Amino acid sequence: EGTRKYLLGGNWKANGTVASCEKIIAEFNGAGPIPANAEAVVGVPFIHIPICLQSLRSDVEIAAQNCSLTGTGAYTGETCASQLKDMGVTWVILGHSERREGFGMAGEDSELVAKKTKMALSEGLKVMICIGEKKEEREAGTTMDVCAEQLKPCAEILSKEDWANVSIAYEPVWAIGTGLTATPEMAQETHANIRQWVADNVGADVAAAVRIQYGGSMKGANAEGLLAQPDIDGGLIGGASLTLDFFNCINAVP
Ligand code: G3P
Repeated sequence: EGTRKYLLGGNWKANGTVASCEKIIAEFNGAGPIPANAEAVVGVPFIHIPICLQSLRSDVEIAAQNCSLTGTGAYTGETCASQLKDMGVTWVILGHSERREGFGMAGEDSELVAKKTKMALSEGLKVMICIGEKKEEREAGTTMDVCAEQLKPCAEILSKEDWANVSIAYEPVWAIGTGLTATPEMAQETHANIRQWVADNVGADVAAAVRIQYGGSMKGANAEGLLAQPDIDGGLIGGASLTLDFFNCINAVP
C-alpha cells in the first residue's frame, strides 16, 4: 500500500542441482517483465549463488539464506556477510523458522538473528527477517506475543536507518510446506498487528515504510488474495519458487 513496493522473495532452501538450477534460470529468464511495482529476489543455496549471479536475469536479485555472525577469519564452514556482498549478493534471509528450529542442531534464537541482521546490514546487505508462530501458539492465542518476542532484539539493536534495508517475512510455521495457507483475512490481521508493534516499538515512520511479506504455501493460485490485503507487501515463497509458478506470484501484485 502507499509507497511500499511489493517484495516477492523465493526461497529455494537446500534444493537443486547445477542442472535444475540452469533449467529454472532459463525459465525465469523467459518469463516476461516484472511489474513496475514489484521487486523480485530469490534465495538460493550458497553453492548456486555464482551460477545465478552469472545467468539469472538482472532484475531478479540474489539472496543468501543465511550468513555468519562473524566477519572473515578462522571460522571454518561459515560464509560472511562481507563475502556475500563482495560476490554481488544483495539480500540475505535470516531467522527462517527452519533455522530457528535447528533441524537436529542448535537452533537460532531471536538474539542471534538480530545480531546477524545487524552484521549483514553493516556490510551493506538487505535483510528479510523471518518470524512466525507455531500451530500450538496460534491455537493458544499467542501469535502476536511470539512475533513480538522474535522482533524485540531487532527493535533494540537496529537503527532507524537500518530498518530502511529490512523486510519482515511473516511465516506462520504451520503454513510452511504444508499446503495450509493462512486465509488472506488471517494473514492481514497478523500483518496489521506486526505493523502496529513496529509503530509502537520502533517508530511510526518505520512502520509505514517497512515491508511485511507473507510466507507459507503461497503460490500462484492464492497469491492474488493475499497480496490484495493492505498490510501484505509481498511474499516469501518456498516450494512454488522452484517452478515458474514463482512468476505467477510476482504477477499477482495488485
Ligand atoms: O521461506 C519460505 C517458506 O518457508 C515457505 O515455504 O514451501 O510453504 O512456500 P513454502
